Amino acid sequence: MAVQRTLSIVKPDAVGKNVIGRIYSRFEDNGLRVVAAKMLHLSEDVAGGFYAEHRERPFFADLVGFMTSGPVMVQVLEGEDAIAKNRELMGATNPKEADAGTIRADFAESIDANAVHGSDSESSAAREIAYFFASSEVFSRA
Ligand code: TYD
Ligand code: MG
Repeated sequence: MAVQRTLSIVKPDAVGKNVIGRIYSRFEDNGLRVVAAKMLHLSEDVAGGFYAEHRERPFFADLVGFMTSGPVMVQVLEGEDAIAKNRELMGATNPKEADAGTIRADFAESIDANAVHGSDSESSAAREIAYFFASSEVFSRA
């Protein structure tokens, strides 16, 4: 399996709970390296554009409202099989269905405030990384 990059977001609920470091430790302890990071308070336009694939879904307005409710940490993770590895560490979208020991099982309360985002494919990772970072802001070690 090749070295990949994936886009990760620590969402406003987790930033508010002061668990950025505990979530970063999950990445670092499992072979993923933070190669870019910034704290941002997303505007409605930026959050809506990021989640454009969900624009027609019934939860879209609530999702944008939640993602703009406070600051987020946005990071690029790099490592072997990083896209699937990060999704595995995150757990299921609904924390009530997430496996024990996953980030969402341990730090999230509900499906709409579920602590973290992670790209779900190589194409979404490429789009999402470029959405937040210039290539000069990503410090690859690979
Ligand atoms: P999705 O891409 O399906 O999940 P994931 O974050 O695991 O890739 O959905 C994006 C976000 O939209 C999800 O993290 C939380 C929110 N959401 C809801 O609020 N309700 C829902 O029923 C779904 C499917 C998602
Ligand atoms: Mg998704």
